Amino acid sequence: PPIDNIINMHDFEVVAKAVLTDKAWAYYSSASDDEITIRENRLAYQRVWFRPRVLRDVSSVDWSTTILGQKSTLPVYISATALGKLGHPDGELCLTRAAAKHGVIQMIATLASCSFDDIIDAAAPGQIFFLQLYVNRDREITRKYVQHAEKRGVKGLFITVDAPQLGRREKDMRMKFVDDDAGAKVQENQKDVKKDQGVARAISSFIDPSLSWKDIPWFRSITKMPIILKGIATAEDAVLAYESGVQGIVLSNHGGRQLDTARSGIEVLLEVVVALRQRGYFPNPNFEIYVDGGVRRASDVLKALALGAKAVGVGRPFLYAFCAYGQEGVEKAIQIFRDEFEMNMRLLGARTLSELEPEMVDASNLTSH
Ligand code: FNR
Repeated sequence: PPIDNIINMHDFEVVAKAVLTDKAWAYYSSASDDEITIRENRLAYQRVWFRPRVLRDVSSVDWSTTILGQKSTLPVYISATALGKLGHPDGELCLTRAAAKHGVIQMIATLASCSFDDIIDAAAPGQIFFLQLYVNRDREITRKYVQHAEKRGVKGLFITVDAPQLGRREKDMRMKFVDDDAGAKVQENQKDVKKDQGVARAISSFIDPSLSWKDIPWFRSITKMPIILKGIATAEDAVLAYESGVQGIVLSNHGGRQLDTARSGIEVLLEVVVALRQRGYFPNPNFEIYVDGGVRRASDVLKALALGAKAVGVGRPFLYAFCAYGQEGVEKAIQIFRDEFEMNMRLLGARTLSELEPEMVDASNLTSH
């Protein structure tokens, strides 16, 4: 269908499913085990209700912000999703070009199909990137990768901590991996590629399951980039993260692709804010909280921000947008978010994101399932 027919994020998913190969659709859309968490990621936002304020002169509204001190036209960043070339010949460059044009921040995946340098080489002057890191068993490889990224101007290191092993994505496992799957390059030092368990498992066996809190000082010693832990799922670990000296956390269940029946990021946000506040750790401009998973509307984003998040990550919608329409699709997705922010902020009575406050939502049902 012509791109003009697309009016929301769900529409991209429908078109992507129609145009993708079975293997690509399985890899992108799958979640772990019974796919309960991925479903919950959407349901949780539906348990949060707005308490809109009126008569606040909302003739002009502004949804721009900063993320890790970097300007962003949206309180949304493009989260890392691996293997972009399974879905479009230009892969992640579709994201890069659209992000450049609209002032949105892209998080580059360790397992991107386009090489890190190809992505950075395609960037506009001053374009902001974050890097998602899977930590290699060979720390020398990780050290070089991180330091190279810093040298090339990356502004934040998002270490994925919820994937010591990749979850069982059964749709994906039913597909067989072949070496040249759309530039799905297997990491050099990988010894035991398992070709009979789907794309995800085949490309991820280099990831170090021994990673622990004790490793954080080492990361601090090799880079000056802000360090963010991606995949925090409890108040306990949010407190440990703060005390470990990192600059932020992403409350995430990896889009439902890791531990099935883990809770949604928006639900975890509630207990995290309480625990950090009790200890005097929140609010703190030097420690930002992000949420991802299931965000499909600006209204979802506004709920997360009202409850204490600084920004949210969006994965599949941008991915499906470029599978369906390339760079233009990603631009359209950004435009849809913009239109939704304008309308929803007016209707909610918030002129800027700093006017969002917990009283603007009723989250009393968020933790009842
Ligand atoms: C991901 N995600 C992910 N996360 C990560 O840290 N490293 C990675 O390589 C990937 N790869 C990846 C591939 C695909 C196909 C998907 C759908 C997701 C997780 C991603 O960064 C983010 O946490 C979720 O996608 C957020 O959920 P939504 O927005 O997809 O619902």
